[in-house]
Amino acid sequence: EKGGYDYFMLKEIAEQPKAVADTLLGRIDAVGSLTLDEVRISAAELREVDKVVIVACGTAFHAGMIAKYAIEHWTRIPCEVELASEFRYRDPILGPRSLVIAISQSGETMDTLMALRHAREQGSKVLAICNTNGSTIPRESDAVLYTHAGPEVAVASTKAFLTQLVACYLVALYLGQVRGTKWGDEISAVIRDLSHISGEVERVLETMEPVRELARSLADKNTVLFLGRHVGYPVALEGALKLKELAYMHAEGFAAGELKHGPIALIEEDLPVVVVVPSPRGRSVIHDKIVSNIQEIRARGARTIVIAEEGDEAVVPYADHLIRIPATPTLLQPLVATVPLQVFACELATARGNEVDQPRNLAKSVTVE
Ligand code: F6R
Repeated sequence: EKGGYDYFMLKEIAEQPKAVADTLLGRIDAVGSLTLDEVRISAAELREVDKVVIVACGTAFHAGMIAKYAIEHWTRIPCEVELASEFRYRDPILGPRSLVIAISQSGETMDTLMALRHAREQGSKVLAICNTNGSTIPRESDAVLYTHAGPEVAVASTKAFLTQLVACYLVALYLGQVRGTKWGDEISAVIRDLSHISGEVERVLETMEPVRELARSLADKNTVLFLGRHVGYPVALEGALKLKELAYMHAEGFAAGELKHGPIALIEEDLPVVVVVPSPRGRSVIHDKIVSNIQEIRARGARTIVIAEEGDEAVVPYADHLIRIPATPTLLQPLVATVPLQVFACELATARGNEVDQPRNLAKSVTVE
């Protein structure tokens, strides 16, 4: 049932192009508009939404962090993202015009369930983004967008994450479409790019051998740091989470702009630092700032592992290891940038002799608070 792979995680990483395509299936019509009939919250209600609040845990929370960038950019609706376990205990400000989005692969995560119950008690509408048909979270929500990734067996979430991202982009674009923002043309262009993204994920998967080799060479390290900026920041957090749970290594993700506010003190000779570089085309200012960051940490001895778009030559002089990803619209980059980090963590775990599908102390769904 592992389809020839040694681990479910490897199988699920490989299934991502199909999973991503399945999430999009039937949701983009012939003229390139979104048809999200499943979202049983009327267009009139969606036009009234004055705040979006996303609640989730772990990897799903990282998807939510990325969704915030997309929702605020394409819809201009303020969006908050909060760890479900923190949410209801701080007496959050919610009302009938708040749209709460609960993201959960299993649909059974107790923290997320309690957060959505709290939101509904305040009169807010709840939209679930979920991978498990008929599970508790979608049953208790006003509407659900299923991710259609197929069953995810490995404890570490991979294909569920990519499809959560796709679902989040769909919601963001749909909200933009329903409300009509000045980004109409960009929204149509991104919908077109999304429909090709499965092929781009496939291309990344075909180039992963050097990443595996690199991972094996780092098996005796104690620490790996991850840096990113804009949507690359949650990708860095996700890369670090994967490494913690699978390789049992000390791994931390930082917003690259925070380096000089503390973390740069951690840099020492030969410390591996993975840097997720934003597109040089889109927000070129942050691209240039990240290139300076890479320069700074390398000057202090870090071993730089740089994930950058094809054609981005500015990073070449400062990259000890360069991992290329296809060019995508700025906001969609996490769909291709996360894949090498999944492969990296999986290979490091194997090299360290760890049980990839069943990491110690973890359960696939956390049904206690
Ligand atoms: C990490 C991982 C966990 C889950 C988290 C939420 O690889 O799998 O961090 O993402 O426990 O689970 P769901 O999405 O089922 O609510």
